[in-house]
Amino acid sequence: MGNRKLRVLSVFGTRPEAVKMAPIVRLLAQSAGVESRVCVTAQHRQMLDQVLSLFEVTPDYDLDLMRDDQSLAQLSAAIFTNLDPVITDFKPDWVLAQGDTTTVAMTSLLAYYHRIKFGHVEAGLRTHDKWQPFPEEINRRVAGVTADLHFAPTEWSKQNLLREGIDESIIKVTGNTVIDALQYVSKQDEPAEITELIMSLRAIAKQSPSAGGLLRREEHPPRNDIGNDDKKLILVTAHRRENFGRPMEDICQALIELAKRGDVEIVYPVHLNPNVQEPVYRLLKGKDHITLLPPLDYLPLVHLMKHTALILTDSGGIQEEAPAFGIPTLVLREVTERPEGVAAGTLKLVGTGTSRIFQEAKRLLDNEIAYAEMAKAVNPYGDGHAAEKIIQALISNDLS
Ligand code: UD1
Repeated sequence: MGNRKLRVLSVFGTRPEAVKMAPIVRLLAQSAGVESRVCVTAQHRQMLDQVLSLFEVTPDYDLDLMRDDQSLAQLSAAIFTNLDPVITDFKPDWVLAQGDTTTVAMTSLLAYYHRIKFGHVEAGLRTHDKWQPFPEEINRRVAGVTADLHFAPTEWSKQNLLREGIDESIIKVTGNTVIDALQYVSKQDEPAEITELIMSLRAIAKQSPSAGGLLRREEHPPRNDIGNDDKKLILVTAHRRENFGRPMEDICQALIELAKRGDVEIVYPVHLNPNVQEPVYRLLKGKDHITLLPPLDYLPLVHLMKHTALILTDSGGIQEEAPAFGIPTLVLREVTERPEGVAAGTLKLVGTGTSRIFQEAKRLLDNEIAYAEMAKAVNPYGDGHAAEKIIQALISNDLS
């Protein structure tokens, strides 16, 4: 290819993709010999924009595709129609996308139609159940079929790809860029909104004498102080499509039961999807010891996690961050594509049934030994140099 620079187009659309792609696009921008451009589908608008400004990433193309009540098919069609001219205009050598959203599946297919190489970041995650998570399990399989380079975060994800017949020479185990991103934001000061939130929760704790002490600033890894009189902060996030409807309501009921204990403060940043907003605000708004927040930006979320004794979540990314912090996490799903944290003992799959969630949380809150067994900081997701390894692999693949 002579002296022409290697052209790389990075495409992403939602908040978690932006978090995990940011370390790559920041490094691509500094790489000699690379011409890097960023295209956001903006499948999410507000939640994406927060992350772009945190990581100081300015998109070269913004498709601005979020619409109210948009179906998966409509979004897919819009990505096809609007990304097509971007690829024609830039003529990249590589298209990169991360994970398992609609943006990723459609981008990978479009790269194939243009006969352009596709690199899949966070490749090889599988539940082997096409309905859980829906539609992410099929989205990542589609990306896996079209990819020319698979950036597997762990050996386990590499093995999944090998079992699907992918040639070992095009699989690189890189670690997960979520650790690169965590290192970037952990260095920054605690944002004022989190300091203020913790102060206001402490004020509530003081007003309820039965609970005694104050909410503690947790160390990294969190100290095992469950079992004393301190109030415990429980962080909740839940937004998965397969949990819409009854499961979401059951999760809310479990939170109501937990809040009645009086020795916890539950903080729930609520995803902007209306299918999440409606039941959560209807069931939980105004309940004692439950604080509902707008979705948090990545920086405040990471800093809030440092104060957290226990996490309840159906999110993918938090299943990777919680083991790094050693925060016991109950996963509100039946299956996970991230068994590394379960194997390490920090995560436990509990499903979405009210009584199971309540009992498992109660066990951790009441039993110091059970808590200590889960509160081990482990990091199965690499050394924070995943982005470097990915870019190196792109460059050397192109030279070979
Ligand atoms: C998507 C991804 C999911 C990922 C999640 C992270 C798919 C199929 N799913 O799910 O894998 O875990 O994002 O957040 O790609 N909304 C806003 N503002 C925002 C974001 C969302 O108003 O900043 C509302 C809009 O009404 C939007 C709706 O949420 O239409 C749903 O967003 P959508 O991208 O369709 O799916 P998610 O359920 O968010």
